[in-house]
Amino acid sequence: MTKLLLRALAGETLPVPPVWLMRQAGRYLPEYRATRAEAGDFLKLCYNPDLATEVTLQPIRRFGLDAAILFADILLVPQALGADLWFETGEGPRLSTITSAADLARLKPADAIHDTLAPIYQTVRQVAAALPPETAFIGFAGAPWTVATYMIAGRGTPDQAPAHALKTADRATFAALIERIADATVLYLSEQVKAGAEVVKLFDSWAGSLHGQDFDDFALAPTRRIIAELKRLHPGLPVIAFPREAGPRYQGFARATGADCLALDTSVSAQWAAEHLQVDGCVQGNLDPKRMVTGGAALVSEVRRIRDAFSGGPHIFNLGHGITPDADPANVALLVETLRG
Ligand code: CP3
Repeated sequence: MTKLLLRALAGETLPVPPVWLMRQAGRYLPEYRATRAEAGDFLKLCYNPDLATEVTLQPIRRFGLDAAILFADILLVPQALGADLWFETGEGPRLSTITSAADLARLKPADAIHDTLAPIYQTVRQVAAALPPETAFIGFAGAPWTVATYMIAGRGTPDQAPAHALKTADRATFAALIERIADATVLYLSEQVKAGAEVVKLFDSWAGSLHGQDFDDFALAPTRRIIAELKRLHPGLPVIAFPREAGPRYQGFARATGADCLALDTSVSAQWAAEHLQVDGCVQGNLDPKRMVTGGAALVSEVRRIRDAFSGGPHIFNLGHGITPDADPANVALLVETLRG
């Protein structure tokens, strides 16, 4: 195994950690903005295999990162299940809402997703064929809770209140929605792996708003089931889990779910994570995305601090959340140079 990212995921401690960045293909890159303009809009870009392949490869060409991540979105699964989906410019995603058993009954069965998602599998095949031999390829999906928060509210919400409200008012419908998303996620990720993804990542961006038994039932348990089913279908498949803002619930999450790597947000201290999380396997993340805007000597020292904190075990260098549109590409280059130089 020569790809550094796969070696780190297998538990190897490397002298220089492999590096990639969440949202590494995006609006901070002029070449992304040009391809997006050519596609017309964000969803057309996601469903155009040639253009989605192009934007997946752009940050690899520019920075020589150790992994490419499929260019798509976590909200394509709700769309494939029959939800209406569109993006309001400058605001974010909008979906038709699921607030009752009747709404849930109108969704398609999980195994009906492939017609809609076929172009995504084609993108995976094209990226896999085009990547340099040293670059690993990451597929992804949203975790059920995070996807459900968008499906229930019909948009991003600061506190996920509509999803919490449905969970309280009609736990059976809520649990059935989580199950439907989990079933679809297994099928979706399994097709990505068949098409050439070597690693998969589950984004649970709103895991931090679940507490106590709810965290166990709706963040941990669906993640555990998805990982178990994927590993049964694809023995040895490495999985990265991102239960963002889980705080103390990060501890034991990898062991409980079977994840090979935990992606860390910016609120976790690297020192604590090295002591309490890295003992269970690989960790990734933690650098504040704002450092990609501000750069300078402070970026260099932050990169070194995080690298040194995790130098005693398997580590993938990454941000604690997605890179933002106001990031300076030169700061990404500086990050990579600092790590490898
Ligand atoms: O990391 C990558 O480069 C791969 C592609 C990727 C995108 N979205 C592309 C995207 C990935 C892995 C995602 C995940 C995603 N999408 C998450 C989970 C991760 C996280 O950030 O917490 C969520 C919650 C979404 C839903 C979503 N998609 C929102 C809320 C938005 C609007 C916010 C924004 O940044 O505009 C998107 C749009 C989106 N997804 C963009 C990109 C590059 C911007 C679209 C554009 O070009 O205008």
